[in-house]
Amino acid sequence: MTRHPWWYDAVVYQVYVRSFADGLPTGDGNGDGIGDLPGITSRLPYLRDLGVDALWITPFYTSPQKDHGYDVADYSDVDPLFGALADLDELLETAHRLGLRVIVDLVPNHTSDQHAWFRAALAAGPGSPERARYLFRSGRGKDGVQPPNNWDSIFGGPAWTRVPDGEWYLHLFDASQPDLDWRNPEVGDMFEGVLRFWLDRGVDGFRVDVAHGLYKDAALRDQVRPRKPKKAAESMVERVLHDEPMWDQPEVHEVYRRWRKVLDSYPGERMAVAEAWTQTAASMAMFIRPDELHQAFNFGWLGTPWSAEAFADVITDSIAAVAAAASAPTWVLSNHDVERHPTRYGGGPVGLARGRAATLTMLALPGSAYLYQGEELGLEQVDVPPEARQDPSWFRTGKPGRDGCRVPLPWSGTVPPYGFGGPAGSQPWIPQPDDWANLTVESQLADPDSTLAFYRRALAARRAVFAGADDETVASAEDDLLVVRRAGVRIVLNAGTYPAPLPEGEVLISSGPLPGGVLPPDTAVWLGITASGQERSAPSTSL
Ligand code: GLC
Ligand code: CA
Repeated sequence: MTRHPWWYDAVVYQVYVRSFADGLPTGDGNGDGIGDLPGITSRLPYLRDLGVDALWITPFYTSPQKDHGYDVADYSDVDPLFGALADLDELLETAHRLGLRVIVDLVPNHTSDQHAWFRAALAAGPGSPERARYLFRSGRGKDGVQPPNNWDSIFGGPAWTRVPDGEWYLHLFDASQPDLDWRNPEVGDMFEGVLRFWLDRGVDGFRVDVAHGLYKDAALRDQVRPRKPKKAAESMVERVLHDEPMWDQPEVHEVYRRWRKVLDSYPGERMAVAEAWTQTAASMAMFIRPDELHQAFNFGWLGTPWSAEAFADVITDSIAAVAAAASAPTWVLSNHDVERHPTRYGGGPVGLARGRAATLTMLALPGSAYLYQGEELGLEQVDVPPEARQDPSWFRTGKPGRDGCRVPLPWSGTVPPYGFGGPAGSQPWIPQPDDWANLTVESQLADPDSTLAFYRRALAARRAVFAGADDETVASAEDDLLVVRRAGVRIVLNAGTYPAPLPEGEVLISSGPLPGGVLPPDTAVWLGITASGQERSAPSTSL
């Protein structure tokens, strides 16, 4: 058994700060219906009892909140909406006392248009050193009325906005999020300072937003638009890679080499995890080479359809890709940017059963797992009414966007705000559905069959069965069954539509009932085996 750093096999719980818990009192003594740092601190014992190792907190820095904190106006301060630096210190201190690590979000690709640098850039005008921190360019066509190139914003519409003096600036996201020019050395120096600021305050690591962005093709050349593959069959065997001059440029890796040196210069195994939506597992693995970042989110797992074969392939490929980089895999099913996974898996009882089965499988895999707040309650995507939608992409495209996975958590009681905080009878910043009474933490703690009770059992079982396990992991599809072997345990997930005979071995934990010795569809189980065919004994903690 090798001793790995804490993050290597940690379970990390993502806290979406606006929607976790509202604890900061306003004038009338109540919260304002928006989650904040004191709210998180008050609920840390809940996370310890859930059994996670760490939390990742989404951005709480000074921000006009156009993209809910991913538009940072001051990287080294807390937005008054969420508290003050002293609240962060208290959060860190309490978390560490409870044995929880804390990862904070770093947003290096773009600033807010309210950042001092961007305001100075607008004031200073074309050709100034202030503009050279961003990507200002002249337009094309007569009088430069066309954007400098053909790139689209991720949130819809062109990636360029024109300012009154006629220049355009690049924003791969909202117009309120101008992209920095990382070819300007001032930018790298500023972010090294930001890293050190939070490391000095005691954070355990960073989640790096849009880690594959930062550098763009030096000439900002047009994107060659993706061509549709000629035949469906061709696209099945050969993944068509898109031309992406705005993403994943080779120069970006120098940034992470520099950051790794900074992280390594601090005691206590500080780490960073990349949000890098790269096109292949191999390009993802480049971000986690030994002298770069420690981990990258494995979005391949999140995007896998409900199929034993697809699950087996992604497990095998993910493990191989990170082994080449000498890191550990990560697994993630949900986050604040995607539809909640029970809904992706069909919703209702089937979606929930599948969600639990996928979670139990994920928690048996090597490396670390990232959970998104509310998945332990089995929350589904909410159909947020149009007048309540807040995602900038909704305003740019008219499509529902990401608000439906960001609805504030239900903690207790039978009506909104379900103990989230704020005045009694009020709705938080995104309204909660009126049928969540049975989904609150309070009601689920009272029910041993609840999804919350299942998550607590599963996390305890993971610790008891797999802590420090270093054995090889072998995944295969046997018809509709996904079978994974690891550390004397066989993990079986039935992705088909018929019950399957339950394979031999002692049942350590299952994601749902196992009536009459069968493994029902949409159910996963951990079975104790050993190489000699003998059963592995059940862990001593009660599952
Ligand atoms: C990342 C974040 C997302 C944000 C975007 C722009 O993808 O996860 O929420 O909108 O970056 O910062
Ligand atoms: Ca608040």
